[in-house]
Amino acid sequence: MKALLNKEYGSSDRLTIGDYPKPIPNPTEVLFKVKGSSINAADWRLMRAEPFLVRFERGISKPKSPLLGIDASGVIEEVGELVSRFKVGDEIYVDLSSSGLGAFAEYVAIDERLISTKPQNLDFPEAASVPLAGVTALQGLRDALKISKGENLLINGASGGVGTFAIQLAKEFGANVTAVCSTSKREQALKLGADNIIDYKTEDFTLSLNKYDAIFAVNGDQSLSEYKKVLTTNGKCVVCGGSMRQIMKALVFGGISTLGSQKSIRILTAKPNAEDLSTMRRYIESGRIKPVIDKTYTFEEIPLAIKHVEEGHSTGKVVIRYN
Ligand SMILES: NC(=O)c1ccc[n+]([C@@H]2O[C@H](COP(=O)([O-])OP(=O)(O)OC[C@H]3O[C@@H](n4cnc5c(N)ncnc54)[C@H](OP(=O)(O)O)[C@@H]3O)[C@@H](O)[C@H]2O)c1
Repeated sequence: MKALLNKEYGSSDRLTIGDYPKPIPNPTEVLFKVKGSSINAADWRLMRAEPFLVRFERGISKPKSPLLGIDASGVIEEVGELVSRFKVGDEIYVDLSSSGLGAFAEYVAIDERLISTKPQNLDFPEAASVPLAGVTALQGLRDALKISKGENLLINGASGGVGTFAIQLAKEFGANVTAVCSTSKREQALKLGADNIIDYKTEDFTLSLNKYDAIFAVNGDQSLSEYKKVLTTNGKCVVCGGSMRQIMKALVFGGISTLGSQKSIRILTAKPNAEDLSTMRRYIESGRIKPVIDKTYTFEEIPLAIKHVEEGHSTGKVVIRYN
């Protein structure tokens, strides 16, 4: 089958498209033809092996597997003998981050427990925008921050893949949302439901006297003490992403930095979960949540699409349409 190959670490210029063995599903797996995928920050981090720690899992000098791609949607072509919930012809979507990647390929074999039916009102590329970014926003707000009605929530980095889902989900949970984004993304954040906007190009929210019950740090490069300064007494901050410095500080010092205080800072590690994909499907089919699509690329253009996302300024999600 045709697949995008990441045979050596480095920039997207080193990615190639070539032949790769078509997977054979085991008894609990389905084989599906990929019809859509999307790009995540994790794709270019894995492609480059950044941070270096990535190599301990992916291979020290070169990737053990050349496959990349986390988000996929498609149509089931074969089912293993023990598969009970899905059948040939079903339209599904999935996050492959815990199962060997490979969304940037013609076929994927995956355990049926990880997949969910695709939202019927989205086409395949739109549906593939949801798994990692949408479920990360869901797990960050619902499980890690436990957002409840009336809470003041600040989303730092509200205009990318995770942030655009996060604004909409936070409004579903009844939060009063302050979205931090740049000037050009302001109107979009308002349209998605944000109550207040802070334009980080002209205003530093960490210098404001406003306090927040919760902060979802999706992008940016703030210090933990800056986040603590703008949290209420019992406030919670969950760091999802942003600069490597912001992520590492939250990972290593998050707990320590809030010792002796009722404030908390923790790092989020989203986990692929079919039930959460089904929850996202219900929100989307009801029309309450809509993916924001920045650009659509073809399969052959995946290296360009990854480059675009790596530049760090996409608006919502960048998706791939397969033939
Ligand atoms: N913890 C987890 O399990 C998990 C899961 C998924 C993703 N992540 C991480 O979450 C982060 C966000 O992912 P994503 O898919 O949303 O990324 P993305 O789509 O690439 O984010 C790009 C957006 O971030 C905005 N941005 C850039 N610099 C900013 C800043 N200093 N302050 C505020 N906004 C800024 C950009 O807009 P402007 O350039 O206009 O500002 C752009 O709209 C990444 O670091 C990713 O690795 C973590």
